[in-house]
Amino acid sequence: MCGIVGYIGDRNCADVLLDSLASLEYRGYDSAGVAIYDNDDGAVKCVKTKGRLSALKEKLKSVGTPSGTCGIGHTRWATHGKPSDKNAHPHSGKNVTIVHNGIIENYSSLKNELKQKGYDFSSDTDTEVAAKLIDYFYKGDPIAAIKNAVSKIRGSYAFGILFHDIPDRIYAIRKDSPLIAAKGCGENFIASDIPAILKYTRDYYLIDENEIAIISRDDLRIVDFDGNEVNKPLQKATWTVSAAQKDGYPHFMLKEIFEQPKAVKDTVSTRITENGINFEGIKDGEFKDIERIHIVACGTAMHAGMVGKYIIESMARIPVEVDIASEFRYRNPILGKKDYLIIISQSGETADSLAALRLGKKMGVKTLAVVNVVGSSIAREADHVIYTWAGPEIAVASTKAYSVQLAVMYMLAGRIAFENGKIDDKSYAELRAQILTLPDYISKMLKTQETCKKLADKYSNAQNIFFIGRGLDYAVSMEGSLKLKEISYIHSEAYAAGELKHGTISLIVDGMPVVAVAAQEELFEKTLSNIKEVKARGADVLLLCREGEEGIDAADEIIQVPRIPGIFMPSLTVIPLQLFAYYMAVKRGCDVDKPRNLAKSVTVE
Ligand code: G6P
Repeated sequence: MCGIVGYIGDRNCADVLLDSLASLEYRGYDSAGVAIYDNDDGAVKCVKTKGRLSALKEKLKSVGTPSGTCGIGHTRWATHGKPSDKNAHPHSGKNVTIVHNGIIENYSSLKNELKQKGYDFSSDTDTEVAAKLIDYFYKGDPIAAIKNAVSKIRGSYAFGILFHDIPDRIYAIRKDSPLIAAKGCGENFIASDIPAILKYTRDYYLIDENEIAIISRDDLRIVDFDGNEVNKPLQKATWTVSAAQKDGYPHFMLKEIFEQPKAVKDTVSTRITENGINFEGIKDGEFKDIERIHIVACGTAMHAGMVGKYIIESMARIPVEVDIASEFRYRNPILGKKDYLIIISQSGETADSLAALRLGKKMGVKTLAVVNVVGSSIAREADHVIYTWAGPEIAVASTKAYSVQLAVMYMLAGRIAFENGKIDDKSYAELRAQILTLPDYISKMLKTQETCKKLADKYSNAQNIFFIGRGLDYAVSMEGSLKLKEISYIHSEAYAAGELKHGTISLIVDGMPVVAVAAQEELFEKTLSNIKEVKARGADVLLLCREGEEGIDAADEIIQVPRIPGIFMPSLTVIPLQLFAYYMAVKRGCDVDKPRNLAKSVTVE
């Protein structure tokens, strides 16, 4: 989704902004722009264009790159108004230029009010309305202008703001959309995400709501709306620059697929001890006497929640509901006093997941966040947080984040089951030992790379692909199908294998690929029957099953998975599904890391 950067220091601002924006490209965007105080005449020069950063670079070359050392930059993912030069950020009023992430919900009424006050608009965006609103309130006092403007705005925002008559300052403010202010030596930054500043500094402040960051070359202050200094702890980014680079892999997605053994190891090894499973800060007995668990998330994280449901229910015998966050928040959910709300989110900033968390808190249930990005909004606002230590995930299609979310689900299920007396010491110890073996099994599954590549050669011209499975195999099929459609643009659906006959089987025609996941011992024969049903109607079946299963000659292609306990199978079967999706997308010439229309972190509803 949109990215914000801002720089003030001694370096050439355009170079820093372009460089920082490049490190946010993974978020997904369709236009880009910068606004820089030009040293030549002291004016704010704004250059923006539809398309990628390469198009912005070309445009800067042709119009002349401003020479200044202070400015703001943006990559836009269109919401209000299609991708175009005029809708790209920054946007300006007479004395103010801004970049914006988020959505201003009441922009239409604000626009009408501003039109009556004599303002003209040249774009279709809500952001231009915000720029002009701040401009309207600006009478020489930036804090007052920002405070007055945001008091009129409904919606979410992170703003980077230049006041044209204050050439040595950048102002920043946020609500429900992430923004950091980073501290360098003789230079300071703002950014919507940590990778943007990693090359220059690791020290940053998280800007909270109702705070304004004021950044100059030598000073970084955070004040409240009355101008009082806010003292907050300086955070240190732990991500390395190389973690956010491709390291020789052709795509971030492939690199991240191969990082999964390490990511899972990092997530489980420090938590699993001889005596139990230790989630930092979560005291023993925290999960005792829970009546119902609600897992709420979006996209891949929701699919990890589906796996969580099966394993928590089977081990702890506590009912678990899984909800898509955008549905949960508006369906007036029933939450009891002894219920527990778990939000799963890689970014920790997904707007609907954050809203679901806030709703749960308002309704008085305990909340737990399973999050990858340290210090993100969801991590900060939940009662408890379990971090997944995957490191930065750059590819839009989530892979390693899913694997570490599964690892947390196994640990959580074990801990909940143990605290509620559903498993004894011996089974708990066995479970812990089994979780620790997962990284090695995942490494083994990565060896299916060549097979998956060949399968992609065979299937890449398909127009529709179905995924089927039962139980946990169904949960992982949903993720396999999502991976395929988001990056290869092949229409794909996942079905509970037993449900096929109730409608979907009518779509099976000669040669239609069906990926069947059948790695659960007790369900294997049932799914095998479903495979035979689709085969009888002409389907070309790719089967994922445990080594040594009988009757698998019914399938056209087979990938075998080591025999480990059924609850862990999703961690293994997902690997070839990810690799299959990856090679299908490569074969079809798709932009694997930045699929069309998608964004890494969805900070709007
Ligand atoms: C976007 C991403 C997905 C991700 C989903 C939820 O749609 O493209 O990969 O699964 O958001 O994101 P979260 O950061 O909350 O896990």
